[in-house]
Amino acid sequence: MLQAEQILQDRYQIQRQLGNNGIRQTWLAKDLKADDGENSTVVVKLLAFGGTVQWDDLKLFEREAQILKQLNHPRIPQYIDYFCIDDRTLWFGLIQQYIPGESLKEKLASGKRFTEKRAKKIAFEVLNILTYLHELNPGVLHRDIKPSNLIWGEDNQIYLVDFGAVQDKAAKEGVTFTVVGTYGYAPMEQFGGRAVAASDLYALGASLIHLLTGISPSDLPQQDLRLQFADRVNLSPSFISWLEKLIEPAPEQRFTSAGQALNALKSGLVVKSANKSRLLVPKEIINNSGCGINNHNETVPEEILGWNWGAFLMPWFWMWTNQVWYGLFCFIPHGCWLMAIALGAKGNEWAWKSRQWRSIEQFKAHQRGWAIAGILIGAPISIMFWLWAIALLKSVF
Ligand SMILES: Nc1ncnc2c1ncn2[C@@H]1O[C@H](COP(=O)(O)OP(=O)(O)O)[C@@H](O)[C@H]1O
Ligand SMILES: [Mg+2]
Repeated sequence: MLQAEQILQDRYQIQRQLGNNGIRQTWLAKDLKADDGENSTVVVKLLAFGGTVQWDDLKLFEREAQILKQLNHPRIPQYIDYFCIDDRTLWFGLIQQYIPGESLKEKLASGKRFTEKRAKKIAFEVLNILTYLHELNPGVLHRDIKPSNLIWGEDNQIYLVDFGAVQDKAAKEGVTFTVVGTYGYAPMEQFGGRAVAASDLYALGASLIHLLTGISPSDLPQQDLRLQFADRVNLSPSFISWLEKLIEPAPEQRFTSAGQALNALKSGLVVKSANKSRLLVPKEIINNSGCGINNHNETVPEEILGWNWGAFLMPWFWMWTNQVWYGLFCFIPHGCWLMAIALGAKGNEWAWKSRQWRSIEQFKAHQRGWAIAGILIGAPISIMFWLWAIALLKSVF
């Protein structure tokens, strides 16, 4: 039995237990030989060999230490030490850097609910870490992504911990006989011992759904093996479709890589088709428009709607690059100001439908450019026009 204050290897004084899954214990500890006081806090993971703890557990534990040693990423704790203590029981210990913060499981337990913005931030950061892991040679699959293994650091960055279930032969996609992962978060194929890169994406999707709904995925209803969560959240349709694609039951229906999931999240262009969510164009994503503003089939992303200052302040120029030919009414005497208001109000929707855009980001950047030009150049001209229009109205009435 381990107790607080106990010193291991004449060096690590254990302080507070962080986790105990029956096989492994995780402790916060003080490194008594650390050079500088600041980094003296470390995390000690311990495995007592014997009894219910078998070779498979030891194999995974050793692999955890070995992989952690090889990894070098700012959002993954650094490996410090690995040792074995023979003291009646055989103990194996793994020392790693301590990440100050709170795990997402702890945040959920304290009643925190996550907004779409927060969930997207977490998704971005985890996908960046997954891109690093999956692109290593050989690739590394984490296989146990879930809220308790994600830490919201004090620096507001997301960290991935617990490499106790890793598989380092991702490229071979072979069958392994040690079944790892956590029920609810791990996809079906993983329980058959066949984990692929997309298995980590499923676990990320299930974790995000837990953060957004506050309900563990194992308690959510399912239909055709799909988690049903959309009616419990208030999210943009594009984010719902993106999440649905992460948790597709068949791995080949999910995004093929963390990078692809990241691109789709950035552009917000996953569209719903029939029952399935589908990615429009995998790499260079574009909306399929260019069909004009009366194209009712084109979905306009909610996040681009709103007043368009560029179109309002510089309608005569804005219309050309956005291909909104209604803007030609601006050249009709007396029609200009009415058209400017219409373009200000509907400009975003019309521009979205009138030409092709690579992504929502590109669209926003384009409109931002026009808004700046509008304020610097268009506003003075517009003020003159408005004064002229008001004077004209006064003279008519
Ligand atoms: N490097 C670390 N820094 C900070 N907290 C950690 C670190 N590693 C683990 N933890 C915390 O300890 C808990 C248990 O550790 P973990 O490695 O996940 O063990 P297990 O393999 O038993 O799940 C985690 O849920 C996390 O809250
Ligand atoms: Mg864990």
